Amino acid sequence: MTTPTRFVAMISGEGSNLLALDDACRRGDLHGTIVGVISDRPDALGLERARERELHSESLPITRGETRSAHDARLLAAVSALEPDFVLLAGYMRILDAAFVQALEGRLLNIHPSLLPRFKGLHTHRRALNAADTEHGATVHFVTADLDGGPPVLQARIVVKTSDDELSLAARVRCCEHVIYPTVAEWCATGRLQYRNGNPILDGRRLESPVVQDLDF
Ligand code: GAR
Repeated sequence: MTTPTRFVAMISGEGSNLLALDDACRRGDLHGTIVGVISDRPDALGLERARERELHSESLPITRGETRSAHDARLLAAVSALEPDFVLLAGYMRILDAAFVQALEGRLLNIHPSLLPRFKGLHTHRRALNAADTEHGATVHFVTADLDGGPPVLQARIVVKTSDDELSLAARVRCCEHVIYPTVAEWCATGRLQYRNGNPILDGRRLESPVVQDLDF
């Protein structure tokens, strides 16, 4: 029997993506295990949820007077100690420095609540509504030093309803995230997804653009 792929999840908030990933592991849909959950926020609801599931969890807030690079070096040490195969940013809201990203490049993924490259950064749902976009969604991408600009792998696309407000749109996008993040994690676990010279390779083929899944949430 092969050893399950080791995932570390990094969170700052509610941890719903973490739970979706962990659920997929427990169901056997994701051939891996969450070996640790790390948060920059000691009060993150996701940490509490991780503890309830008896997942190893740690909080590493930035300390008074600590520089970003010193903090990220400490973070990298904590992550590395867990010997992950892949590190999944699941609502981790601090920007990671180049040294952290480089050390894990090709094994570091993020989920972002928009159809990247549209709406990098914050308030993506509000911005999609303000722009009167008819489609919106979420993207799983490899992380590079270019914030929200690393190569995308899989996108979930939904139709924006005329009745949508920021809350309803956020909730539906969140449901999409819970589908596509475990999917990509499974591609990683089974070796279907690789990363070579800055490019995602899926089933042996370079992904020129992300796979797009239309979802009906
Ligand atoms: C998710 O919507 C995720 O896409 C977003 O934070 C939320 C975390 O939710 N991430 C970012 O905006 C990163 N730029 P969760 O804590 O319930 O998984």
